[in-house]
Amino acid sequence: MHIDITTREKRLDSIVSYAPVGIVQFDPAGTIIEMNTKAHGLLQSLGCPATCPREHAFELLKTVAPAVMEKLTGALFSEGLIFKNEVHIIEYGKETGQGDHYWQISASWIDPQCIVLAFDDISEQHQQQQAMLSAISEKAVEQGKSELAADILHDIGNAVVGLGAHITRIRRSLDDTKDNLLVGLADFLNTQQSQIASGIGEAKAAAATTMARSLADSHQELHAGIRESINGQLAILSHIQEILNIQRQYVAGKETGVRLQVNLRGVIMDSLSMLTATLAKRGIQLHSTLTEEPTLLRGDRTRLMQVVMNLLKNSIEAIDLAAETKTISVSLERTPTELELTITDSGCGFDQATAAKLFGRGFTTKSTGTGLGLTNCREIIESHKGTITLTSDGPGKGAATRIKFIL
Ligand SMILES: Nc1ncnc2c1ncn2[C@@H]1O[C@H](COP(=O)(O)OP(=O)(O)O)[C@@H](O)[C@H]1O
Ligand SMILES: [Mg+2]
Repeated sequence: MHIDITTREKRLDSIVSYAPVGIVQFDPAGTIIEMNTKAHGLLQSLGCPATCPREHAFELLKTVAPAVMEKLTGALFSEGLIFKNEVHIIEYGKETGQGDHYWQISASWIDPQCIVLAFDDISEQHQQQQAMLSAISEKAVEQGKSELAADILHDIGNAVVGLGAHITRIRRSLDDTKDNLLVGLADFLNTQQSQIASGIGEAKAAAATTMARSLADSHQELHAGIRESINGQLAILSHIQEILNIQRQYVAGKETGVRLQVNLRGVIMDSLSMLTATLAKRGIQLHSTLTEEPTLLRGDRTRLMQVVMNLLKNSIEAIDLAAETKTISVSLERTPTELELTITDSGCGFDQATAAKLFGRGFTTKSTGTGLGLTNCREIIESHKGTITLTSDGPGKGAATRIKFIL
């Protein structure tokens, strides 16, 4: 197909005129030969219709993009590209409070008498890119922080466990100490006082008996004091551990949130076996009915175990040692759409007013309680898209905790 030169030129001319980038042609002295529609528009968008020196490219560039001007003056004629797709901050319009404009600019020699500058305003893309970059770096910082926090929590957790083990050992060796030997001696001296008196005299025998008795008493008092202090320390440690658990969860929540398949029945069985000794020691009967059907759900095994342990611990603590019936029942049932875990106890129960406060952070009715257990449980269950309720028919009538997970 033959197209005559004029048609071809006209078409090219229109393409340049309406191209979606600003195009300016000027001679080596800087005199502008032509400027397309988009270039006019871009200059106008800077807000410089009147004051911009429109006839002279170099004057114009000195005003709006001095860095580009510098590059051009350094570029001697050699056909072709001078620079391509460079992003420059446009100086003009800053004072008018428009904020920074970013233009992407290319410059080429077309022939010894013509330089072409092609440019576009990419402020919006630039802003988006910057926002994306800063979001990425913020995320990296957050990630770094939470990794650091996780490490610290892990170290503190280990230290606390170690400390707990030491304190428990002291308590055990205290339990093993035969502090009743002194009591025995005092009793012996007491019963033998008249025989001893015949040997060393009444007054001395009475003094020896009294001394032995007060030694035995003060020794027992001392032991009781140490025991109380140790129990206090263990309570503080368990408080610290609960706080660490909450913080860990917070840190974990910031991580990827990847959840694996967890067998809830396994979690319950493991928790129960960890508490077997405690239950036996307190004479609490355990009934458990765990469904044989699959009990898999997506979640965090450690956290779920923490929930079950917390609830069982609450039930154990709610049961008075002197009570006639001491039972805890654990049931796990499965319906086509739900997994339901119920822990029922024959403990002290609670009234309506208490019921309203149970899940409040820090609410406790125990002298060594932390009031963090149930709050923690609820956070964990809700992060597994489950629900948890704790009900009681009233004081002295036991309590029931119900957890439901949607399958
Ligand atoms: N099984 C239960 N029976 C009776 N009261 C309970 C039971 N579980 C929890 N509670 C009540 O809820 C309060 C808060 O429990 P929790 O958050 O675990 O903290 P803590 O055990 O440290 O007191 C307890 O102090 C207790 O009064
Ligand atoms: Mg508790």
